[in-house]
Amino acid sequence: MIDLRSDTVTRPSPGMLEFMMKASVGDMIFGEDPMVNELEEMSASMFGMEAALYCPSGTMTNQIAIKAHTRPGDEVICSRLAHIYQFEGGGVAFNSGASVALIDSENGTFTAEDVEQYINNPNDCHKAYTRLVEVENTVNRGAGACWDFAELVRIRELCDRHGLGYHLDGARLFNAMTADGRKPEEYGALFDSVSICLSKGLGAPVGSVLLGNRDFIRQGQRIRKVLATL
Ligand SMILES: Cc1ncc(COP(=O)(O)O)c(C=O)c1O
Repeated sequence: MIDLRSDTVTRPSPGMLEFMMKASVGDMIFGEDPMVNELEEMSASMFGMEAALYCPSGTMTNQIAIKAHTRPGDEVICSRLAHIYQFEGGGVAFNSGASVALIDSENGTFTAEDVEQYINNPNDCHKAYTRLVEVENTVNRGAGACWDFAELVRIRELCDRHGLGYHLDGARLFNAMTADGRKPEEYGALFDSVSICLSKGLGAPVGSVLLGNRDFIRQGQRIRKVLATL
């Protein structure tokens, strides 16, 4: 029987298990795990981004990104359907002390005009500082909707005008790229940070990678350490 509850319930194949048994390993925190190093370098180079961070889950890569982009009291703009809001245990508040401004739409995609309505005036002390825009591609709760790339570019321009960070939850970005024909480096050039999951459409038993610039990933290493102790 095929279990269709989620693409995360897959089991490693015999080939994967055999590969794992033979994998060369080392201490990742000392930067001595050759396969993790190779994976991080390969992913960063594939997306044309400076650096990458391997983590056990996509929840962790998203949460690390949000924490690195924000300070307590800041606000994150995302879809009401977003995984970071619906399915990460309230982690935006728990880990980052940030609030969310939620955009309603049928499939979890939205426009730059929608985002603009939620950007707070930084000179109004009643309002949280808007700091980050988060999008998901494809959208899990949006029945796998794939974004119009041109709209993602328009939102990038808006973020630039307002000095906002731009994070992509690309848990299923490889499915999106199959649909829209875009290349990883086009996504890498557009976002400040990208989370990709190896454990979903790509079929690996576990693992996610966070991509960003060197400084961002250095901060991410520290946050990963702290989260791992919770
Ligand atoms: C869009 C999206 N982001 C993030 C995650 C989190 O991934 P993980 O289950 O590895 O924590 C999921 C999981 O299904 C997801 O669908």
